[in-house]
Amino acid sequence: MKFNKKLSDIVDISKIEVVKNPIEKAHGLPNECYLNEDYLEFEREKIFKNNWTMIGVASSVPNEGDVKPFNLLGIPLLIIRNKNKEVKVFHNVCSHRGFKLIDKECKLKNVLRCPYHYWSYDFNGKLVTTPHIGGLGKHDVDGFDKTKSNLKEVNSYIWMDLIFVDINSNAQSFKEFIKPLENRWSKFIKKEDRQLIRHSTDYGYFNMEVNSNWKFAIENYCESYHLPTIHPELNKVSNISDHYHIEDKDLSFSGQGSNKYSQQFEGNIKFNCFPNWPSDLYKKAEYVSLYPNVMLGIHVDHFYAFWLEPITNNKTKEHFELYYIGKESASSDEYKDIRKKNFAFWQEVMNEDVIAIEGMQKGRSSPAYNGGNFSPVMDTPTLMFHKWVATNLTK
Ligand code: FES
Ligand SMILES: [Fe+2]
Repeated sequence: MKFNKKLSDIVDISKIEVVKNPIEKAHGLPNECYLNEDYLEFEREKIFKNNWTMIGVASSVPNEGDVKPFNLLGIPLLIIRNKNKEVKVFHNVCSHRGFKLIDKECKLKNVLRCPYHYWSYDFNGKLVTTPHIGGLGKHDVDGFDKTKSNLKEVNSYIWMDLIFVDINSNAQSFKEFIKPLENRWSKFIKKEDRQLIRHSTDYGYFNMEVNSNWKFAIENYCESYHLPTIHPELNKVSNISDHYHIEDKDLSFSGQGSNKYSQQFEGNIKFNCFPNWPSDLYKKAEYVSLYPNVMLGIHVDHFYAFWLEPITNNKTKEHFELYYIGKESASSDEYKDIRKKNFAFWQEVMNEDVIAIEGMQKGRSSPAYNGGNFSPVMDTPTLMFHKWVATNLTK
């Protein structure tokens, strides 16, 4: 189905175009982009369906038959682990009369059975049984070709345990999309090191619902400008002056890095490190917003993904997923206390940011605001994200 609505009915397009100016003359996205519910439909169509969007993590469906639903701005999807241990994503709708197949996370035995008339699909989405389709006791019927009614699979890719989908199959290949970030991080981690990450088996996940548009979380994450004001404690150990900007020239991510990361410890326990991370770079840590909806943090001894589920124009669910290097750090009793400590640390930091993003949401109701003005020094990674949104909206 083609999306035919006009953005110009909701937002003055000249206010979107001005975002693309050089920073001294640019303003940010206009208020409608944060306040207007109809506008959110444009983001669903132009941003979330046309780009690689994160919808969950593979380790949340560890065994075959594990399945969970996800709602991407009204689009029902399901994530399932098949018998070959692969994670697949399908549209969460029965091909018979359109019943939503999976309503809550569960474990399936052999098939995915629609609760309405019991049509069943295997874990690869193939329609396998159609009870009584030809009348009572007749499970096949002339003129109905089962192979044309399989579940509709969504293009997906698992990277560092994170599940990305490309709903419209319009995006570049995932490998192309992620290449600039992988290249950037190849100085820290080699490909084989990526296989070592393990989701923490305790203290590994939290979520929060915030009264903010999803974009404010990304914008805030791009900059270290707010460190002294919003995170005074963090700023004492990792000062604003120890940070640098990160800006991908292909416009797929931006953020900030620190030169002062100190490895976590609890007593004499320290987490295991990425084996190929060079020792002279141990104090580096990088925090990037991977557009549209993921905020990543990489350190020598842990990795996290803080990802966003947009709910409405002013409500967002934030999901935090924490990973360690190897099974021992991620799940052994010995490391439990340090996992707890690290988890509490990040939860505190992310909580502090809620003040920032909810504050921006409240301020955006002011008709006196013109999209704002950017510091040409401190705000360049943030403006990059605004430009990315503006470009997606107008292409
Ligand atoms: S709607 Fe699913 S079996 Fe009828
Ligand atoms: Fe912050």
